[in-house]
Amino acid sequence: MAVRVTKQVETRDKVLELIERLTIGQAIPSERQLSVDFGVSRLTVRAALDELVREGHLIRRRGSGTFVSEPKIAQELTMTSFTEDMRRRGMRPTSRTVDLRIVPAGARLGRFLNVSPSEPTLVAKRLRLADGETMAIETLHVPSALVPGLTGKDLESQSFYELLRDRYAITIAGGVQQIEPTVTNEEESEALGVPLHSPAFLFERTSRASDGKTVEFVRSIYRGDRYVLVSELTPQTPRTGIPVLTVRDDGRVH
Ligand code: GLP
Repeated sequence: MAVRVTKQVETRDKVLELIERLTIGQAIPSERQLSVDFGVSRLTVRAALDELVREGHLIRRRGSGTFVSEPKIAQELTMTSFTEDMRRRGMRPTSRTVDLRIVPAGARLGRFLNVSPSEPTLVAKRLRLADGETMAIETLHVPSALVPGLTGKDLESQSFYELLRDRYAITIAGGVQQIEPTVTNEEESEALGVPLHSPAFLFERTSRASDGKTVEFVRSIYRGDRYVLVSELTPQTPRTGIPVLTVRDDGRVH
């Protein structure tokens, strides 16, 4: 077993090197060819390729072969909007509003948004696309009083953060974001165009305006095969260091 695992790791590394020399969309050699080239069994090649497909480096097309995927999007952990993130990478951001309704916040959401449970709250579900490909599903929750007249169409044609700034004179000043690994459910898989139970990131962001008011609580599902999270690391000094993640005895993050 140990020998096979090592061989699989080595094979995976070799295929990764091969991928680096190929271009996006190009086919990799067949499993049979790779097993001859690398001197390992087809079973080992298959297992290594399965891993690379799961991680989003390769894509399998039934009947035609295995191809090099697009590189993942390196998502930095900053306060930026989806629109800004995509533009900065030279990609074209678009959105599709699949649902928008106004509901009472309820107890849980009310706590997140710092409003009473009866406070009317706008809930908008959007698909977020980059260069026409669906990357994420986001459910935005915002107290209606902060964004009178905001429509689903507005959220398709403009960035929410830009609308906040330009139409409602609200500037996002900070927030808290929690990230958890997850897998896609049926609805998410269909919307994102990925197989059921694909790996994904669940982001939950609560943002506040410069006057301290909570502006949004957003739950986003980002495709695990298209994103990698990147953060700059700096040494933490006792005075300025803020713990970003702590796990309590009951396993909950706070
Ligand atoms: C990111 C954040 C969301 C935020 C959104 C705004 O995706 N995770 O919390 O609401 O950006 O994006 P945009 O301004 O492009 O609508």
